[in-house]
Amino acid sequence: MENKKFNTALIHGGFRFDKHTGAVNIPIYQTSTYAKKSVSESVCGYEYSRSGNPTRAALESLIAELEGGMRGFAFASGMAAVTAVLSIFKSGDTILVTDNVYGGTFRVLDKVFSHFGIKYKSIDTSKPENIENALTPDVAAIFVESPTNPLLTVTDLSAIAEIAKKHSILSIVDNTFMTPYLQKPLEQGIDIVVHSATKFLGGHSDLIAGLVVTKDDVLGERIGFVQNSTGGILQPFDSFLLIRGIKTLAVRMDRHIQNADKVAELLKNSPYADKVYHVGIPVVSFELSTSKNLDKFFDNLKILTLAESLGGIESLMCHPATMTHASIPKEMRDALGIKDNLIRVSVGIEDIDDILKDLSYALENA
Ligand SMILES: Cc1ncc(COP(=O)(O)O)c(C=O)c1O
Repeated sequence: MENKKFNTALIHGGFRFDKHTGAVNIPIYQTSTYAKKSVSESVCGYEYSRSGNPTRAALESLIAELEGGMRGFAFASGMAAVTAVLSIFKSGDTILVTDNVYGGTFRVLDKVFSHFGIKYKSIDTSKPENIENALTPDVAAIFVESPTNPLLTVTDLSAIAEIAKKHSILSIVDNTFMTPYLQKPLEQGIDIVVHSATKFLGGHSDLIAGLVVTKDDVLGERIGFVQNSTGGILQPFDSFLLIRGIKTLAVRMDRHIQNADKVAELLKNSPYADKVYHVGIPVVSFELSTSKNLDKFFDNLKILTLAESLGGIESLMCHPATMTHASIPKEMRDALGIKDNLIRVSVGIEDIDDILKDLSYALENA
């Protein structure tokens, strides 16, 4: 059936049933290689698992279907996915990048791709005129994260796509925070979507994975070439786990959002939260009142957990200045508004009464 509804595609997308056994879930094809029929013929298209593996292929078709793209690719981490996308550029190219992009994306541009002559310019992409002003002949692409982490600044993706098309540059969106359940960049005219699937797509804090989806086959060929050449692929077992996580994305996201709205409400009414950032997604950020002690606040928590990452079913708290954004120089963090008392909450799907009780206690007693 073409054009399944999104919630059906989450469960049935990318794979119908195993043609050898009828298994309704994709088997974990834990193999590095495949017997050939003859020197020139494979059994069913697979030759070596860096180039292709049926379990990974089911995931890659699934994410392509969910994002409304032509080709999907699965990588060993979100950063491997970002790296594969950036690897299609060449020395002398400049990439425009959202100024408070994920710290790891900033770091790979600043400390790795810079060695190969690929430059970047950080700009506030929430104002489209900034992009027009930053365009020079060497600009090859714009890389946007929306909403950003942890300040949740929103960029108009249709405006980005339009500018990119007008100036014949590629547009890339990191859709980690939204997932295709809440935002489909390719439908807005964006060329490439990238994910840390470690977060909401996986959803259970039990794997590290990255995904890329291209809107067309030409870009798909370029990413596929990089994937096979550099080899940062996702393994079969992790591909299976990710498919399993994706099946419940919609129900998880609904509960995450419902709980996050309540957390934001509590924080907005709390005398101990100075500034609250919330845009209706499962992530809420706030500045802890300067009258409170940060270490004590984290120490008081009994259910919410101080840990890197987000998007899992359990509520996690992060201190961006020392964790996700530690690789961004302090002056730059301050300029972006990522203050030392900023805390990010990835609101889980536990009982909301327990989440609110834990948070209230930690705030009051910090
Ligand atoms: C928005 C965003 N993009 C990319 C990454 C990198 O993903 P991974 O940690 O899976 O390599 C992260 C990780 O936190 C992220 O938050």
